[in-house]
Amino acid sequence: MAIGIFDSGVGGLTVYKTISEHFPKADIHYLGDTARVPYGSRSQETVIKYSLQCAQFLVENFDIDTIIVACNTASSYAIDHIREKFGVNVIGVVEPGAKSAFMLSANRKIGIIGTRATIRSQSYVKALQALSPGISIQQTACPLFVPIVEEMLIETEIAENVVKHYLDELINKGVDTLILGCTHYPLLKGVISKIYPHVSIVDSSEAIIACIEELSVDTLQNGIREIYLTDESPAFETLKNVLAGGLASKKVTL
Ligand code: DGL
Repeated sequence: MAIGIFDSGVGGLTVYKTISEHFPKADIHYLGDTARVPYGSRSQETVIKYSLQCAQFLVENFDIDTIIVACNTASSYAIDHIREKFGVNVIGVVEPGAKSAFMLSANRKIGIIGTRATIRSQSYVKALQALSPGISIQQTACPLFVPIVEEMLIETEIAENVVKHYLDELINKGVDTLILGCTHYPLLKGVISKIYPHVSIVDSSEAIIACIEELSVDTLQNGIREIYLTDESPAFETLKNVLAGGLASKKVTL
């Protein structure tokens, strides 16, 4: 049995990388819906429709027993629909990320950043409130972070200025823990930590490892790695050496 990971595009390769490194023998099939990225500016209905198609592709084509929804936007809207439709384990990034933040925060003031759709869905807010109803939460969408990562402007003054633009106000409200609620944001972890060294940063891809272990997913296979994209992607070409060990992608149609 294999693990299927899907994302709206190539940002989910941050999750792919973490899981690949942690479980070197697992068979992993990654699907990036690069023909229809971004999901973060789309409606709930569209995100659900696209996410179900991605899950369907993985289940139909591979011997999948676990689907990992790397995309925060898809996790925010479609996780229950995927669970209902396919009889496999389904792991999203929202609950594990919220749980990690809750455990890390000393002052119970947690910040959430993500796409507009993720923030609008309140998914992280609900997950945190389920853990502790009185928790203090600040959240903001950071739509410029995705293009900054995809253009590899990570270690630049532009990135620093944009990080400050979105985060100064939120961090000044006393947040001690920040959830990176979008696939691309882990690549900005270094810049964020440099500007706000006192803030703990939660990368949901790391939180997923514990879920895989808890579900006793079979991770002792042949170490197969495959990356499928629904369209050509300049961002993939830029990021593949950093996140996918230089692996080539195969084109598929959903
Ligand atoms: N993968 C998306 C997420 O994590 C970011 C890119 C997009 O908007 O599709 O929310």
